[in-house]
Amino acid sequence: MAAESETKKVVSQFELTDHDVNAATLEFLRQMDEGLRKDGTSMSQIPTYVTAVPDGSEKGVYLAVDLGGTNFRVCSVQLNGDSTFNLTYNKVAIPKELMVAKTARELFSFLAMQIEVFLKEHHKDYYAAQIKKRRSGTTRSSEYLRLGFTFSFPVNQLGINKGKLIRWTKGFDIPDAVGKDVCALLQTEIDKLGLPVKVAALVNDTVGTLMARSYTSVGKAKSILGGIFGTGTNGAYIEKLSNIKKPTVGEYDKSTGDMVVNTEWGSFDNQLNVLPTTKWDKILDDASVNPGIQMFEKRVSGMFLGEIVRLATLDLIKNEKVTLFVDANSSFNDLQSITTISRESGLFKQWGLDSSVLSVAAADDTPELSSLRLELETSLQIDSASLVDAQIFKAVAAAVGRRAARLSAVAIGAIVLQSGKLNDPDTDVVDIGVDGSLVEHYPFFRAMIYEALKAIDGIGPKGAERIRIGIAKDGSGVGAALIALVAEKMEKDNSNVEDVEARVDDLVWNTNNHNTFIVAGVVGVIAIAALWWARQRS
Ligand code: GLC
Repeated sequence: MAAESETKKVVSQFELTDHDVNAATLEFLRQMDEGLRKDGTSMSQIPTYVTAVPDGSEKGVYLAVDLGGTNFRVCSVQLNGDSTFNLTYNKVAIPKELMVAKTARELFSFLAMQIEVFLKEHHKDYYAAQIKKRRSGTTRSSEYLRLGFTFSFPVNQLGINKGKLIRWTKGFDIPDAVGKDVCALLQTEIDKLGLPVKVAALVNDTVGTLMARSYTSVGKAKSILGGIFGTGTNGAYIEKLSNIKKPTVGEYDKSTGDMVVNTEWGSFDNQLNVLPTTKWDKILDDASVNPGIQMFEKRVSGMFLGEIVRLATLDLIKNEKVTLFVDANSSFNDLQSITTISRESGLFKQWGLDSSVLSVAAADDTPELSSLRLELETSLQIDSASLVDAQIFKAVAAAVGRRAARLSAVAIGAIVLQSGKLNDPDTDVVDIGVDGSLVEHYPFFRAMIYEALKAIDGIGPKGAERIRIGIAKDGSGVGAALIALVAEKMEKDNSNVEDVEARVDDLVWNTNNHNTFIVAGVVGVIAIAALWWARQRS
């Protein structure tokens, strides 16, 4: 059948053989090493100055904000000092026009306003008391709430609360902000509103994920990598200080011999030495706000997969041999009705196909593909798609999803090899924490990653069995691990919590505890903010 062979032609272009996976892994290791030696490489390999995980004995109430994708989240966390904590949050969608605003001020003033809204809603008594004190000129900055800023874009980190934006990713494009310290940008807008808040820590979401996961890793296994496979993709891993050859500027504690490095692997192989490239990858890249950048991310992450499927599907629609989503008459359609696509369908608009449709396609293994056909109708306004139509769409979507998973295995596999943990007789399990819509919602994404890991030289089926990839979003798990950390820290060091305690006592906690839960990245940043604060005071 022509439709079948034409579909196969498309599908085969997304194939990544075991040989390709191995070649890409070697190149990934090479580019990692290059990034550790000098600046300006495609993988930035950013030193984070985080050399240890927080120990959980920190006490206090901290704010955290999270900017990194479609939403902005403001949270407050009460660390109880016994590793338990309560978290409450507000989430707002970032208006599209602010993602491409003319000035950084427009975006950051919006963020500061959300912090104000949050304080008024959840900490109204504290907020009112602070505003009063401020008016009477009796505010002390030690009473300010400390805020951890999860900023999930490439930043040249200059210290725990200072970092200059290298470039925007994931559809953001505000040239005015590039090269500026994002903490200072936020602090300025916070100060303009007179909020009693100090931006204390700057963290990438991958670092937060690694922190949170390392709390929850069971037994001896220490997490070596925090990876995000969501709107964007990136990873932060523990690297030996001796391997970081490029100059580092910030102050840090060298005693652990390690440092967390933010790879910014979304830009792995921007030069396309090994990355597979179809004509649809090219079209997507050319039409993006950052052509030639984030080339790995553009093949792996949720923001882009739907668009690749859309472009490939459009070509099949145009292909007369296939007659996709067009029935000449209803007798060709098992639904006995004629297929129609609305002109308004997302299929005809850039970014019009949400990657979540890929998850539905992958999950539907019914003979009639009924949920996928329903999804095509509701999400893409394709009425009465035939079974063959749905099969074609499913095949294309699966090929794009599978390529993404196998490429994800390249990044994970390379970092496992770099860690040397598989050759370490003391390591049974190599633990990896992941988060993001793909690993959470795309069916079999992790299974496909494992399949490719088995094919990597130096890992193999035995090595792959020792790699544990787990979701770093397990709130109660994180809480339990924090208890252990706090208890240990409390034995060693019970100092310098007085100021923070005073602030906690002052603070009226207007939170509804039923609304409490934990988010991995947020926990990470809160913990880092707390750690930083404790060190500052000592
Ligand atoms: C993009 C950002 C990176 C972030 C990732 C996941 O790749 O550049 O900093 O970690 O998205 O959110």
